[in-house]
Amino acid sequence: MDGIRLRAEQTFHDRQAAERARTFSQSPQLLSVLDNDYLDHESWIRPALAKLGPLEGKRVLDFGCGHAMASVIMARQGARVTAFDLSQGYLVEARSRAAHNGVRLALLMADGNRLPFASGSFDRIWGNAILHHLDLPTVAAEVARVLAPGGIAVFCEPWGENWLLRLARGRLGYPSKERTADEEPLRQKDLAVFRPCFEGMEVEGYQLLAMAARVLGRGRRFASLDRCDRLLLGRMPGLRRYCRYVVLTLSQPRAHGAAAAGPVRCCSHATAHSSPVVPACET
Ligand SMILES: C[S@@+](CC[C@H](N)C(=O)[O-])C[C@H]1O[C@@H](n2cnc3c(N)ncnc32)[C@H](O)[C@@H]1O
Repeated sequence: MDGIRLRAEQTFHDRQAAERARTFSQSPQLLSVLDNDYLDHESWIRPALAKLGPLEGKRVLDFGCGHAMASVIMARQGARVTAFDLSQGYLVEARSRAAHNGVRLALLMADGNRLPFASGSFDRIWGNAILHHLDLPTVAAEVARVLAPGGIAVFCEPWGENWLLRLARGRLGYPSKERTADEEPLRQKDLAVFRPCFEGMEVEGYQLLAMAARVLGRGRRFASLDRCDRLLLGRMPGLRRYCRYVVLTLSQPRAHGAAAAGPVRCCSHATAHSSPVVPACET
């Protein structure tokens, strides 16, 4: 990924974080994270996080942590959480949030395309709305490299197979729609890069009908639509292609440095990592 794109991502998110910082300076109580509020703010979060299993004592990476609410929740469950982001502004927010909620996080600034961690460093990896900002073939290899044998990675990502939704994303205005110029919702073809790196890969769709809540607002209607979605998607998994989000669960990373079958090589830059690590915040 070129430096221009990285800087654009960084500038965009730093600007967003600066606006948020103004709000927190006036209302620091907004830094509090209530488990249920976070877990239920989107319908995929709770089931996706559950896929990581019990976290007590686990080394967990929050990949592109942003506001680090997930980091706080995972730390409360006993995980030893490392969280990184490209945006210094969001890391400052993450540090304040950790302090405000009384949890310890190891925070650092890093580019998700080049992870500054030794191979096999994490038992679990969590990422929400991050992969679609990155270079997927590179990041697939990196995730497999830093995941310990038997590890699990879960990523929740916007899905781009529904043409009507693509049109709406491009044309309609709705709350928190702002996005960077380079991000692209994941498509079916993108998933191929993960197969050579992981023996286990599961993809589940979320918000088929319930995506209407983006425009109509949440409430009772949302809960009913969400229940319909679970029913429909359970019976007709093919409907996943029309969903707003997918949860990608990756397991059994292929042996570190092993050459993968097929055109995409996994763990292409194995353990030779010289990318600079700029510590942004204390642990
Ligand atoms: C849509 S936000 C998601 C943040 C958080 N995971 C959440 O659940 O809200 C995307 C995040 O990815 C970060 N990001 C974008 N490109 C990145 C990169 N190359 N490496 C690391 N983080 C990146 C941004 O700074 C931002 O915090």
